[in-house]
Amino acid sequence: MSTSRFIAIKVLTQVLQQNGSLSTQLSKQVKHLDEGQGLIKELCFGVCRFYPQLNTIALSLLQKPFEEKDTDLYANLLMGLYQLDHMSTPDHAVLHEAVELCRELDKEWATKLTNAVLRRYLREKEDILANLVSQPSMTYNMPKWLVKRFQKYWPEHLDSIIEATNAHPPMCIRVNSAQVSRETYQHQLLEKGIVSHETSISESGLYLDTPIAVHLLPEFAAGASSVQDESAQLAAEILQPAPGEKVLDACAAPGGKTGHLLELAPECVLTAVELEAWRLARIEENLDRLGLSAELHCADAGALETWWDGQPFDKVILDAPCSATGVIRRNPDIKINRKPADIEELVAIQKQLLAKIWQTVKPGGYLLYGTCSLMQEENEQQIAGFLECHQDAEMRPLNHLNATLALAGNLTERPYGTQLFPTIHGHDGFYYCLLQKRA
Ligand SMILES: C[S@@+](CC[C@H](N)C(=O)[O-])C[C@H]1O[C@@H](n2cnc3c(N)ncnc32)[C@H](O)[C@@H]1O
Repeated sequence: MSTSRFIAIKVLTQVLQQNGSLSTQLSKQVKHLDEGQGLIKELCFGVCRFYPQLNTIALSLLQKPFEEKDTDLYANLLMGLYQLDHMSTPDHAVLHEAVELCRELDKEWATKLTNAVLRRYLREKEDILANLVSQPSMTYNMPKWLVKRFQKYWPEHLDSIIEATNAHPPMCIRVNSAQVSRETYQHQLLEKGIVSHETSISESGLYLDTPIAVHLLPEFAAGASSVQDESAQLAAEILQPAPGEKVLDACAAPGGKTGHLLELAPECVLTAVELEAWRLARIEENLDRLGLSAELHCADAGALETWWDGQPFDKVILDAPCSATGVIRRNPDIKINRKPADIEELVAIQKQLLAKIWQTVKPGGYLLYGTCSLMQEENEQQIAGFLECHQDAEMRPLNHLNATLALAGNLTERPYGTQLFPTIHGHDGFYYCLLQKRA
């Protein structure tokens, strides 16, 4: 039992010390462990998802915060509080494990402290929570600066954004239309007892009523389906690649949109560029599984001279690196690690990438700019600035999707581009703007 908890502490310690994302740390630590994976993930995701509340509670219980070198003890304490409040583990077992973990961490001196803090929480929980109730971290379970930004940009959507962002995300798959129709695949799922329903906007998506391991999906290894949120599925549907067209996926890993573009048009000539070598390998794996291929470059997409042969592209996706504030529910460590200064840095990177990648678009060709962000400076303000300096660029409507999205009531058409908000049982937050280069 405690092995899983010990690994969870290791992962959480790295996340709390800002040494990488939760998914990266998890994949490092749980690569060879089958047993206990579920518990490790539940503990790590749970602590991150509830971090703003757990952190406020923990700090109120400690006379002074743990030192940096004892972040592992803090992770242990947060994990204890998480289990007491959100899991069915009996209280006495939680306390016993937390104390044992101090010993496993070779910090016997912390056993009494950890035990006392958790016991006090159990004893005085009602009073403790009543004292903290007015703190925004408790009300929203979100860092204060993020709440402020959401409030500033989307006052009418604030409550629903917060609610969807704090919820468990649904599992959404994309059916590979080159292999099987969505209807047939839905039947194949049902034959295995997997209940699903169709996505309302994407033409290829299915939401599973209960998330399952991918190897249980029919013909997954043969490429019949892929895990991809509905909002991300829209990119290829908006761009509509055609046979023979030269297409660029500029920030491509792990290759979700690369694969989808090729499923829709296996005969298009696709180039995918990705900065990180280890992430490029994920594109290769995904394309291998789908039985599709593209020209892959490990490069800074903005350094055109390092990968581009000068032949312009008919269609381009720039799925830019972003704050991921539309997908916090899938990456809850964002609540811990994302800082306001990151947004400024990302805006500068996006601006530079957009200006450079625009040079690769053919006159008359299209560039779809997208982010999984809810921040206006990364989205509509970015595009407004771009259009001001690029007289050869024109905005285009997102074909049929705008009407469908508007009907579903979860899109806002902005002066520049289209913003999707996360919805509880539906898609993630995303932003798209389709640009055409004047012929
Ligand atoms: C939002 S993710 C892309 C997701 C991907 N399009 C998909 O659908 O699976 C952004 C990706 O851009 C990569 N990236 C960041 N800066 C880059 C750059 N300058 N050139 C190329 N790729 C970059 C990141 O490593 C990351 O894999």
